Amino acid sequence: MPPPSPLVTLTDPALSRAGVELRLKRDDLLDPRVPGNKYRKLLPNLRAAVAAGHTRLLTFGGAYSNHIRAVAAAAADHGLESVGLIRGDELADAPRNWSLAAAEADGMRLSFLDRRTYRATLATLAAPETRGRLRRAWGPCHILPEGGSNVLAARGAAGLPAELPGLGPRDIVCCAVGTGGTLAGIAAGLPPGARALGVAALKGASGYLESEVTRLHEDGWRRTFPNWRIHHTHHAGGYARVSPGLAAFTAEFEARHGLAVERHYVAKALHCVHDLAAAGTFPRGTRVTVVVTGPATP
Ligand SMILES: Cc1ncc(COP(=O)(O)O)c(C=O)c1O
Repeated sequence: MPPPSPLVTLTDPALSRAGVELRLKRDDLLDPRVPGNKYRKLLPNLRAAVAAGHTRLLTFGGAYSNHIRAVAAAAADHGLESVGLIRGDELADAPRNWSLAAAEADGMRLSFLDRRTYRATLATLAAPETRGRLRRAWGPCHILPEGGSNVLAARGAAGLPAELPGLGPRDIVCCAVGTGGTLAGIAAGLPPGARALGVAALKGASGYLESEVTRLHEDGWRRTFPNWRIHHTHHAGGYARVSPGLAAFTAEFEARHGLAVERHYVAKALHCVHDLAAAGTFPRGTRVTVVVTGPATP
């Protein structure tokens, strides 16, 4: 079990006016090398990999993937090897960006796939043929999907609500959604009455993300949960995009509260909560806990 991350209450005028209490669950402080939701999602996978006798992790991600860096760091810290299959073969000969350079510095072997092969491999990742092909190419390994969202990861995230004592009908626990594993876990771990609110960081993912969360619940808990929903209104232009509106909101929020906010996920969740509160969507007395799923990056 990870140690509990800090929980802080913020005094925010816009939310106070709406009668909403805002708290931050500072998962970004969980571990300096494997921060945020990565810590909760990767730990059960590392244990499973070691228990199965694996010495290598293999996973997938984009050029600036937080997940890729976290897997490289977690593997290195646990004495495991790691392989990262990266979207975009045009990156193979380009100078490494800071994120891929960090993964390589932790010993991750990188291989660059053209987008079609990347998509096709992920689409068939559950198939024994695909896994067999990857293991023939890279040796025996524990395979993690893009973003690391498998049942083990969701179960890891499901431990978060237990660190929020007293959750009940006035509570909403909010997180950004990339692949759905964190939200699936949080929803599954909530006590009766409390609800989970996901904010999609991707554009055009309505339906897809909901089906991913439902699939994780069915695979991991053999049931569905009625206590969550995803807002698709605050992706700010899409994955890894930051709109001028989001940039302005985040700069103001950072100045007001004296903390740096991760732009591609956490800021979108905070922006959405602010807009929903300003629109009077939450009944007065609602307590919203936003999970800070990662630290600000360069
Ligand atoms: C900082 C941060 N927050 C949130 C998420 C979304 O988590 P999930 O992929 O479990 O939906 C990610 C990764 O995808 C992330 O890197």
